[in-house]
Amino acid sequence: MTTEATEDRLSMPLGEVMFGMRAIRRLKPDPVADEDIRSLIEAAIQAPSPSNRQPWHFLVVRDAEQRRRFGEIYRRAWWAKRADAGIHGPEDIPAEDRVARSAMRMADEFGQAPAVILVCATSPSVIDMTGVIPATQNLLLAARALGLGATITNMHPSVVDDVRALFDMPEGARVIYAVPVGYPRGKFGPVSRKPLAEATSQDRWGQPLA
Ligand SMILES: Cc1cc2nc3c(=O)[nH]c(=O)nc-3n(C[C@H](O)[C@H](O)[C@H](O)COP(=O)(O)O)c2cc1C
Repeated sequence: MTTEATEDRLSMPLGEVMFGMRAIRRLKPDPVADEDIRSLIEAAIQAPSPSNRQPWHFLVVRDAEQRRRFGEIYRRAWWAKRADAGIHGPEDIPAEDRVARSAMRMADEFGQAPAVILVCATSPSVIDMTGVIPATQNLLLAARALGLGATITNMHPSVVDDVRALFDMPEGARVIYAVPVGYPRGKFGPVSRKPLAEATSQDRWGQPLA
C-alpha cells in the first residue's frame, strides 16, 4: 500500500483552513490514524526557524496511561495559571466567560484526548523556545485541513519537573505547547477576531491602513 504524501493530503484551500481554524476543545475519543499524526508533524517540521536550527521535538502521547497521567498534570497546571490570576475554583469563573469555561472543561477532559502532541524546544533559550511557534501553527493548520480538531495550550512553570519526569525528557528540553488532537465533537466554524482596522496602522502607529 502506498501512502499519499502529506503535501497532497493537505489539499483544503488555505483560506478555508485559516478562516475556519478555531480552537476545538471537545474531542471524540475515537483514535486518530498514525498516518494523520505523522502528517501533522511532517507539516510542522516544514516551518521556518531561526537560522534553520529547527529547535523542536514532537513528543506524541498515545498510551492511555501516559495520557491519563499527563491529563492530571495539565489540569494542575491549568488551575495554577488561574491561581496566578486570582481564580481559585469554578465559582470564580463567570458563566458568560465562555472561553474560560470551555478551557476549564477541556482541562478536566485533557487525559481523554486520543492523542496529545507535546511541542518541545530542544533548549531553554528564548530563541529556541520561540522558534517552535511557526511549527506549532503549521501543525494546527494541518489538523484543520485533515478534519481534526486541536487546541494550542501552554503549560505552567510549576509542572515543568513533573512533565520532564513523566516523559524522561533530557535536561534543557522544554514542553512549550501541549496540543490535544482528535475528531471534533462540535463543528468547525469561522473564527471571531477584531476587525483589520483595529489591528493595523500605516507609516505611524494609529494612522489608518489604506
Ligand atoms: C499561545 C497560545 C496559548 C493558548 N493556551 C490555551 C490554553 O492553555 N488553554 C486553552 O483552552 N486554550 C488556549 N489557547 C487557545 C485560545 O484560547 C484560542 O485560540 C482563542 O481563545 C481564540 O479562539 P479560537 O481559536 O477558537 O478562535 C491558546 C492559544 C494560544 C495562541
